[in-house]
Amino acid sequence: MLKLLSIAFILITISVSNVKADYGIGVGRADVTGPAAEVTFMGYARIEQKGQGIHLRQYSRAFIIEDGTDRIVFVSVDACMMGHAVREKVLQKLSAQYGDLYTEQNVIISGTHTHSTPGGFLMDFLFDISTYGFVKPTFNGLVSGIFLSIKRAHESITPGKIFVSSSEIQDANINRSPSAYLNNPESERAQYKYDVDKDIVQLKFVSSEEPDRILGAINWFAVHPTSMNYTNRLISSDNVGYASILLEKKLNPDHLTGRGPFVGAFASTNLGDVSPNIRGPRCQKSGNVCDILSSKCKEWGDLCVASGPGVDIFDSTQIIANRLYDKAAYLLGIEVAKEVTGPLKIIHQYVDMPKQRLNITNRATGEVTQIRGCLPAMGYSFAAGTIDGPGPIFEQGQTTENDLWNYIRDKIAKPTADDIECHNPKPIFIPTGRMSYPTEWQPNIVATQLALIGNVAIAAVPGEFTTMSGRRLRNAVKEVLIENGADEDVRVIVGGLSNIYSDYIATPEEYQIQRYEGASTIYGPHTLTIYVEQYKKLANALMKNEKLDEGPYPPDLSKDLISLLPPVIVDIAPWRKGFGDCVKQPAKIAKPGDVVSASFVSGHPRNNLMHEKTFLQIERDDGQDDWKVVATDADWETRFIWRRKNALLGTSEAEIQWTIGPNVKPGIYRIRHFGYYKYIQGGIFDYEGLSDNFEVI
Ligand SMILES: *[C@@H]1O[C@H](CO)[C@@H](O)[C@H](O)[C@H]1NC(C)=O
Ligand SMILES: *[C@@H]1O[C@H](CO)[C@@H](O)[C@H](O)[C@H]1NC(C)=O
Repeated sequence: MLKLLSIAFILITISVSNVKADYGIGVGRADVTGPAAEVTFMGYARIEQKGQGIHLRQYSRAFIIEDGTDRIVFVSVDACMMGHAVREKVLQKLSAQYGDLYTEQNVIISGTHTHSTPGGFLMDFLFDISTYGFVKPTFNGLVSGIFLSIKRAHESITPGKIFVSSSEIQDANINRSPSAYLNNPESERAQYKYDVDKDIVQLKFVSSEEPDRILGAINWFAVHPTSMNYTNRLISSDNVGYASILLEKKLNPDHLTGRGPFVGAFASTNLGDVSPNIRGPRCQKSGNVCDILSSKCKEWGDLCVASGPGVDIFDSTQIIANRLYDKAAYLLGIEVAKEVTGPLKIIHQYVDMPKQRLNITNRATGEVTQIRGCLPAMGYSFAAGTIDGPGPIFEQGQTTENDLWNYIRDKIAKPTADDIECHNPKPIFIPTGRMSYPTEWQPNIVATQLALIGNVAIAAVPGEFTTMSGRRLRNAVKEVLIENGADEDVRVIVGGLSNIYSDYIATPEEYQIQRYEGASTIYGPHTLTIYVEQYKKLANALMKNEKLDEGPYPPDLSKDLISLLPPVIVDIAPWRKGFGDCVKQPAKIAKPGDVVSASFVSGHPRNNLMHEKTFLQIERDDGQDDWKVVATDADWETRFIWRRKNALLGTSEAEIQWTIGPNVKPGIYRIRHFGYYKYIQGGIFDYEGLSDNFEVI
């Protein structure tokens, strides 16, 4: 009898779970931190913005969803963007390990767009000028870490449910090109309350077996991670990266720096014209308002810069991060989140943008316009930069020489009359599509991809859509999904800076104004319109279960790369000193609010990426002959600052700073430093340093 009952019970369970099958869900995080010194950061294109250590480590956060038939992988990486070659290498490693389970069809890799991490990992030449060409350690660090995060997600797959929710965040973003936004039709603008998207959208993953256990979350909020400006020299995942760390620390309370089973991402979306510097732009010297159209200041040499909300860039990063974190934590806790149910679908196609020709019919008038994509080109306003970082590479009065640029410049091609007409009204500053030495400068071929998780769609886009561009894309995709049978409440999310990087996508109306975003819309005025048609095509095929051809495969640029970043030659310890010797001891007594610091004889941080390790440890004496680690180089409270002492002799120093937080326990503490040095006769060896003990009262 008992046996019969239990069989009946099993049958009932099976039939119930058939009605609403749960998904298999895996989450994983891994370290992708780039070379920590002397590599130019990617984002502001300032040659002088070279790394000098670490404030926050970079992570890759991977999420796998499977329904027994299909799989979708979404990865958010603390990097300025994703590049084709990085993704290709990750896919090769996945295929070696898992066969055809993970391919370019079902893997989305999205960069958070932090501007404070090492560059040189893209292969298109324009993006490597400021890093003296391709930087292999940056590239390899991303590839190995992204792969490891997906592997960890794969190994953690467990039955789970998905919930979607959203809420507004005030005071975390502003539009940095309002004059361009205002050129969008009034009737369209009237449909929206703000000139940026203020909604944070969250997918929450919960264990089926233990409903109280949250496995992970992906949050999308439109904001540039440019709270850290180009004066920063420490690797940082910026506002969104710190928001992730805060969320992970909350959900993994027993784990240092949030290591643990819960993984929480803040991924990029339509952030193209969105700044976190919410105090807005001001002329730096005079304090006057900047010109709204040109972002110019009256006085020569005065720069128009946006800042805030904090007293400095660290403070601003922390404030914005906390606003994102607070709302994400609130959404994790609410009951009204809607469960996501239904099948998984995903589709991918490469598109040769300059080859696109479309006839667009105006719905109201029936008028047909022929549009086309242009060969990539950057406009003059690209050189002016933005209020988050004015005047990048080619500004007037520039004092930093770049030999590589000088050398290449001599080979510059001229734009044709047809290029000039195609990009009109954009004046062409760099005809990147006509330049092929040493490799292509910007991609012609981009990746387009659309995923459907039940009633939630993710449109993975190869660049930075502006606010209104993102809204148009979401609306167009949503309409096609509904026409093909999706529920009215289907939600479309723009997955920013995914798979390949092709700069900005402004609306045709914003393009006319030629702010930075319009000048950096590289396939001409109709770039967005072409994308909207392409994603409608993807949505249509996805819903009808039709296969599309793969499209033209992007070229392999790896053979023609130039790398001029000088390697680490040798590390030398000063006379009568050894690596790791503490040359500046911390103060003997300190209290909460103080910054304790110690300096050590060090090797070059580029000798080892120290993935999943740390260059420093802050330790507390637990009174039982043991030292407990209270912070590493991935924590907000610590800074690892590396300084060259003498380039000729190869000597350097590592300063470790620790800001004592309000909750730090009184007791005896010490600072440790870990590193590697390069020996003159070859070989790389590890060393350790240890400070004197000090007391926190
Ligand atoms: C960058 O931030 C620092 C510190 O907050 C500030 O002093 C400086 O003026 C800013 N510079 C730019 C170009 O934004
Ligand atoms: C667009 O319309 C023109 C004129 O009717 C036609 O010649 C052309 O082939 C059409 N192009 C596409 C891509 O349909």
